[in-house]
Amino acid sequence: MIPYSYRDNRLFCEETDLAEVARQYGTPAYVYSKAGITGNYARIDAAFAAAPHLVCYALKANANPALLKMMAELGAGADVVSGGELAQALQAGFPAQRIVFASVGKTDAEIRFAIRSGILALNVESREELEVTARLAAEMGMTAPIALRINPDIDIEGHPYLTTGKSANKFGIALEEARAAYLWAAEQNSLKIVGVHCHIGSMIKKSDPYHRMAETLAAFVADLGKAGIRFEHVDLGGGLGVDYTKVLGEQGSPWFMEPEEMAAQVIPVLQPLGCEILLEPGRSIVGPNGVLLSQVLYRKETKGKKFLVVDAAMSDLIRPSLYGAYHAILPLQAGGVEPETVDVVGAICESGDFLAKDRELERLQRGDYLAVMTAGAYGYTLTSNYNARPRPVEVLIDGATHSVIRDREPSLF
Ligand SMILES: Cc1ncc(COP(=O)(O)O)c(C=O)c1O
Repeated sequence: MIPYSYRDNRLFCEETDLAEVARQYGTPAYVYSKAGITGNYARIDAAFAAAPHLVCYALKANANPALLKMMAELGAGADVVSGGELAQALQAGFPAQRIVFASVGKTDAEIRFAIRSGILALNVESREELEVTARLAAEMGMTAPIALRINPDIDIEGHPYLTTGKSANKFGIALEEARAAYLWAAEQNSLKIVGVHCHIGSMIKKSDPYHRMAETLAAFVADLGKAGIRFEHVDLGGGLGVDYTKVLGEQGSPWFMEPEEMAAQVIPVLQPLGCEILLEPGRSIVGPNGVLLSQVLYRKETKGKKFLVVDAAMSDLIRPSLYGAYHAILPLQAGGVEPETVDVVGAICESGDFLAKDRELERLQRGDYLAVMTAGAYGYTLTSNYNARPRPVEVLIDGATHSVIRDREPSLF
């Protein structure tokens, strides 16, 4: 379900008129749908109901404390990639036993924090990190629960920055090396092998890469089983792709592939292993359920180009600048005005500061509001204070009610 729709030409999220939200809290503002987020989590969770499983929400997509608390209360686990995110997950109420921690560059302090916290698994990304983890755990007189992150050299055929499971990427350990590393780990008193991990990238559009990953991991687990190594879980990572062109309820599902289709591809392959299946979705839960509201400051025309200068910028949403990512832009009040082709840009002193290029939009004027759609994932978490701009306010919609879930950062002037 997508929680946005036009009613009498006004853009609504659930039962709330977004123009009202923009007027009340100001812009730029991130606005999220509670029903949308909880609904997407529940849908992914239900898709895997046929197998023992745990959905570990990836905090990097959106770590607003109120949203994390919501997710923890639903019974989700958490996928974290830094000591900071681990602290955020624990503060939000995720039980340590439901938290997994991947990072190619964990510091000694982060490894110690994870061991001390009693998390479910440290997803270890290199042989050297494995050896350091064993040594640190031994020094602490504790046992570190580990899974190796396998790099299966599978191409998701997506943006190079979003591909993580090719051997040219910095992530994970090659299969050949992982076997020897597990055999070594099995001999260390300070390590407990709990699982095996894989995350091959974000914005996966087809079920085939998941199927291949599941087959690779199943063969690996079976092979190591013969060497006496037992796994409690197989972690398939996140990556379920979101279709950024689908932004209104009437357009149907926001995903390229339904969670049930992914489940159908992997459960039959993994079930014979008798392991719990872990998933780490981020974007697919929150992405389609957030928008960035902004207001037009100026119209501007140069030779052959029209610009709409708005009060949101790359410091508020960097995806267009960083990945050339597409985000649909909709007016909060659709007036049936003639469309025009514009670049939607922010105030930052970079020509790379844009939200849309050569976009056909209804003609908007100074003071009009617009929504940058599908901004719930990798939006606020990638914000910055570049050009001394305060981070935007975050608002949660619940039916016809709305409340601030993180204040706008104070202005410096
Ligand atoms: C280890 C790991 N797990 C999960 C995710 C979440 O991916 P997505 O938001 O595409 O579901 C990421 C994102 O990069 C990741 O690096």
